[in-house]
Amino acid sequence: MKNLFLLTIFISSLHTSFAQRPESWYNEPHRPQIHFSPEANWMNDPNGMVYYDGEYHLFYQYYPDSTVWGPMHWGHAVSTNLTHWTHLPVALAPDKHGYIFSGSVVVDKNNTSGLQKGKEAPLIAMFTYFDPEKNKAGTNDDQTQGIAYSNDRGRTWTKYSGNPVIPNTEKIKDFRDPKMFWYEEGGYWVMVLAVGDHVRFYKSDNLKNWTLTGEFGKKEGSHGGVWECPDLFPLKVENSKTTRWVLLVSLGTGGPNGGSATQYFVGTFDGKTFVNDNKAEDIMWIDYGRDNYAGVTWSNTPDDDRIFLGWMSNWQYAQVVPTSAWRSAMTLPREMELEQTPAGIRLVQEPVEQVKKLRGKPYGNLKSWVSGKDAGGLRIDGPVEIELEIDLENSVATELGMELSNARGEVFVLGYEVATKRYFTDRTKAGKHAFSPDFAKTRHYAPRTATENELEWHLFIDRSSLEWFADDGETVMTELFFPSEPFTAVTFFSKGGALKIEEVEAWPLKTIWK
Ligand code: FRU
Repeated sequence: MKNLFLLTIFISSLHTSFAQRPESWYNEPHRPQIHFSPEANWMNDPNGMVYYDGEYHLFYQYYPDSTVWGPMHWGHAVSTNLTHWTHLPVALAPDKHGYIFSGSVVVDKNNTSGLQKGKEAPLIAMFTYFDPEKNKAGTNDDQTQGIAYSNDRGRTWTKYSGNPVIPNTEKIKDFRDPKMFWYEEGGYWVMVLAVGDHVRFYKSDNLKNWTLTGEFGKKEGSHGGVWECPDLFPLKVENSKTTRWVLLVSLGTGGPNGGSATQYFVGTFDGKTFVNDNKAEDIMWIDYGRDNYAGVTWSNTPDDDRIFLGWMSNWQYAQVVPTSAWRSAMTLPREMELEQTPAGIRLVQEPVEQVKKLRGKPYGNLKSWVSGKDAGGLRIDGPVEIELEIDLENSVATELGMELSNARGEVFVLGYEVATKRYFTDRTKAGKHAFSPDFAKTRHYAPRTATENELEWHLFIDRSSLEWFADDGETVMTELFFPSEPFTAVTFFSKGGALKIEEVEAWPLKTIWK
């Protein structure tokens, strides 16, 4: 019997063994090498991110039948280290109530739901049902909230028989993306829901019956688009005893550089509603690049780490980007922290520590860049990570930065405009862009809020994306690009005066898929 068991394990591991995967697996043009992407077909928002028993679960908006958006399912993958992922079967599929839109998962440790069967704590998912028939009929009640549960570590899911747990009796057109958490101080569950131009807060003792407790945002922050995918969590302000609550809200349109983007608020939460610390008209973006949307954080993480993951695309062109077989990837998982800055308390982010494990042997000979004799000798043939410090003291440079380029003359530029104190990226000459007039019209900008004379940059370059953490993650830009051949060189430039690089380190990064 034992042997049979072992044999079964052996056969099933052979089934997915790396050796059997064709060379083309995760190796198509533009296929991200250090980022999560589905094996095939369409993906959008990360959903239901929860840590349980050594595994980080990632569910995601998924349409298994096509590379464009369609009837939404929850795709599923797990990771023990936040970098390498194992694909699992689809977790939730549409039913008579509709498609399965975005939502969250919690670990119901005390079985408040009564849905536990067996030894494992039940995982409870709440998601939005979207009823396409009602949507067509225009009755405005096509979105409701449902729950599902798993008693086997997220492997199989059962939809609750009493769904929807929150019907849409008020007929609210946009009514979606529930994010749940355990509110320790009150000893109950809280759920935050996006409702058109604001968010609502609900509470529950059993994850099934929910009561409305408050709302926030009708006149606060950016309203350039419908509010979606909220998240709410407490965070310690670094080097202080203060804790503030952070509210993330994504907007489908109206981002700082056009299209989809995610804003955040810092304030207090009393178990019923959120109060903004800042002025209603203050707008703060978690990322100024065009390709970080619908991101939320993991629940139940060890050490209370706040780990964020975003969808690395933008609704303006997500469905037409030039990838075949699959569409879209996630950002790197990022640790979020709050920091006191001259402008106030701000969110800062950096990729999680585990990403360092992907580093190969560091590039040598980087000193020559610093002397300015050699404008840049980094030849790359895969993903890279670069950390550098640029000294602005006594510099007369007016603009400085880096270029990624290939033999076809395609160039992606990122840099800093000294006079306007703005970071920028430019993908107008970085390869394919005819698929959408919105993809590469102009430079994209981010205001630099840090005031030090040193620029500190931390960059992660994959086959079709850049994640750029400037000034210890105070300003972030995430951008896609589609060169017709991979970029093979990284060079530095400066205009109006020499570039003074104080320090630079760089590493090739190992693929997470082989
Ligand atoms: C955000 C979003 C969510 C919705 C989901 C549908 O990108 O529009 O509001 O639940 O995508 O796929």
